[in-house]
Amino acid sequence: MRAGLLGMGKYNPPQVVTNQDLEKRIDTSDEWIRSRTGIEERRIADDQTNTSDMAFEAAKQALESAEISADQIGLILVATVTPDHSFPSVSTMIQERLGAKNAAAMDISAACAGFMYGVVTAKQFVESNTYDYVLVVGVEKLSKITDWEDRNTAVLFGDGAGATVVGKVSGDRGILSFELGADGGGGKYLMHNKFIEMNGREVFKFAVRQMGESALAVTEKAGLAKEDVDFLIPHQANIRIMEAARERLGLPVEKMSKSVHKYGNTSAASIPISLVDDLAEGRVKDDDVIVMVGFGSGLTWGALCIKWGK
Ligand code: COA
Repeated sequence: MRAGLLGMGKYNPPQVVTNQDLEKRIDTSDEWIRSRTGIEERRIADDQTNTSDMAFEAAKQALESAEISADQIGLILVATVTPDHSFPSVSTMIQERLGAKNAAAMDISAACAGFMYGVVTAKQFVESNTYDYVLVVGVEKLSKITDWEDRNTAVLFGDGAGATVVGKVSGDRGILSFELGADGGGGKYLMHNKFIEMNGREVFKFAVRQMGESALAVTEKAGLAKEDVDFLIPHQANIRIMEAARERLGLPVEKMSKSVHKYGNTSAASIPISLVDDLAEGRVKDDDVIVMVGFGSGLTWGALCIKWGK
């Protein structure tokens, strides 16, 4: 039996910041942001809401959706580059709040590819019969490391959390293949010192190439052809990067997940958040073949091919 995703959860902070709001603060325009990135608005957490609060809300929903109780979880993995503190980890903070008393807990730092790294790690523990259930959360409060005066980065990011429970699924469903990778030589292009610092053009070039290659690689590793893929869930960084990956797979527009216009780039949270909306709105159904693909600072990347369903 393969590992698969048993349930999903998400948290989007209620506060909406539109492109028009940003126009009032920095030298930018709604037209520029929309045409270069596809982003129309993003959600920003308030001062009282930290990364662990958003992670907790998404995790609670994922457990309910997977129909398992907190004490059944063997391991909690939280992918984040914006933890509440450098220690204790966000994973231990939510372990306590969920009452997941039988779970080990650690955070993963792989930036926007973090959720992919988390799910692949969870799969190893589940398929080796080490743990029955692994909770994986992708969560970011990027607003606290964003320089709101820097138009190169301030328009791109948002806050949020997405979560899943990885466990065994039935029949031929589950994670069919995966790919993880890293290129530390590109670390300089996207860094956090005091704030996020980015060479947008270099990141863009890397992302366009890597997203397409990884999406194709997992499809082939699963023994499938491009035509077998029902739905693509790319990391929601920039609509032009997402479109490039979709075109490499030869999929029509309606077969790609798109939430970047509503939430901006929520880093490790973007893929699970987008998937929750796709499930709620009927775009993903049982037995669909889904390709998820992400990239981020590091540089890192990761992709999964999943036959959906429990
Ligand atoms: N509003 C208005 N103008 C802006 C702007 C903004 N928010 N940000 C940059 N510009 C300007 C630049 O200063 C530049 O002006 P110049 O030509 O006078 O120097 C001009 O717009 C064009 O910049 P360019 O870099 O060519 O734009 P682009 O088409 O490459 O788009 C990004 C810029 C950042 C949207 C794009 O490079 C990108 O998405 N990169 C990847 C970023 C990413 O995904 N990061 C997260 C990874 S997980």
